[in-house]
Amino acid sequence: MSKSLHEKTRQPNRPVSIIGTGSHVPDRVLTNSELESMVETSHQWIVERTGIIERRIAAETEFTSHMAAAAARNAMENAGVTPAEIDLIIVGTITPDTVFPSTACHVQKLLGAKNAACFDVNAACSGFLYGVEIGSQFIANRSCETVLVIGADKLSSIVNWQDRNTCVLFGDGAGAAILRHRPDSNGILSTYMASDGNYSDILHMPGGGCALPINRDNIEQKLNTLQMNGRETFKQAVTSMMRASQVVLERCGLTARDIKCVIPHQANIRIIEAMADRMDVPMEKFHINLDKYGNTSAAAVAIALDEAARTGRFQRGDLILLVVFGGGLTYASSVIEW
Ligand code: UT7
Repeated sequence: MSKSLHEKTRQPNRPVSIIGTGSHVPDRVLTNSELESMVETSHQWIVERTGIIERRIAAETEFTSHMAAAAARNAMENAGVTPAEIDLIIVGTITPDTVFPSTACHVQKLLGAKNAACFDVNAACSGFLYGVEIGSQFIANRSCETVLVIGADKLSSIVNWQDRNTCVLFGDGAGAAILRHRPDSNGILSTYMASDGNYSDILHMPGGGCALPINRDNIEQKLNTLQMNGRETFKQAVTSMMRASQVVLERCGLTARDIKCVIPHQANIRIIEAMADRMDVPMEKFHINLDKYGNTSAAAVAIALDEAARTGRFQRGDLILLVVFGGGLTYASSVIEW
C-alpha cells in the first residue's frame, strides 16, 4: 500500500492491525426441517427467502461469555498473544450473561486476562465493528498496546420460538479479533460508524429495560423477546450498508474494484445480492456463511472474517471491506489492509 493512500485516509497516527482472529459456534445444529415442526414454515421458504439452511443453538448452560471466551482463545492462539498481554476487552453483544457485570468482565475471568479493562458495546449486529473502531482508538493514541474485540450473541435466548417471522433467522456464536499496532502494515485504513435512532422500533426487544421491566403480563405478551418489522429492516439494511460502503471507500480514495473480499453482515442472502448488484461487485467477492449459521448478530461479521482469513480468501497486503447493519439502527464499515 502506498504512503499516499495511508495519508488520504482518516487513519490515526499509529496504524492499527488485526493480528489474529478466532471464532466459536455451539455444536447443536438446528435445521430448517426441525423448524417445520415448531412453526408453520418450510425448508423451501426459508432457503428461498433468506439463504439459511441451518443455524447453531447454544445449550442452556452455554452462555454468551462462554462462546466469547472460546472465540477469544482461538484468536489469541492465532495472534500469539497471552491473556496477561491484553489491555482491553470489548464485547459487542445484546445478549449479555447478566445486565451487569458486563459480559467482557465475565470473559476476563474465564481467560484470566487480569490486566485488562473491560466493557460491553450495545450496537446489536454492528457491535463487533463498533468495538474494532473503539479499540483501535485506544491503540492509536497509545493508551493500549493489545486489545481483544469480540462479537458474541446467544440470540436463541431472546427469540420468540413461536414467531415464524423471526425464529428461522437467528443463531448463536462468537467471533474475536486481536488488535495491535504492526509497524509493517497500514492495517485498518478507515472505519465509518453511523446510527439512526428514528428507526429504533423496527428491530428491538421492548421489555427488560427500565422502560418496561419484565413482569408476568409482558412475558405473556412476549415483550421479553426480539421483535422485527422484516420488510422495513430489509430495506434499511440495504440502504445503510450501501451508504456505509460508499463512505468508507471514498474516505480511502478507493473503489469497490480495489477490494479483494467483502465481508458483510450475514442476515439474508437477498440483502447481500442487492448490495452486490448495486455496488457492481460479483457475488464471488462476498464471503458468505449464513447458510450454515444464520444471523448470529454481533458475531456474524466476526465469524465470517475469521473463516475468510483462515480459508485464504485474502492474503497479507490485500484490501478487504467489512460492512454491517443492526438494530438501533446502527451501521458501520471498515476498509482494512490485511
Ligand atoms: O441483523 C439484521 C436484522 N435482520 C434482517 O436484516 C432481516 C431483514 N428482513 C428479512 O430478511 C426479510 O424481510 C424476512 C426474511 C424476515 C422476510 O422475508 P420477506 O420476503 O420480506 O417476507 P415478508 O415479511 O414480506 O412476508 C411474506 C410472507 C408473509 O405472508 P403473507 O402475509 O404474504 O401471507 C409472511 O407471513 O411470508 C410469510 N412468512 C413466512 N412464511 C413461511 C414470514 N416468515 C415466514 C416463514 N415461513 N418463516
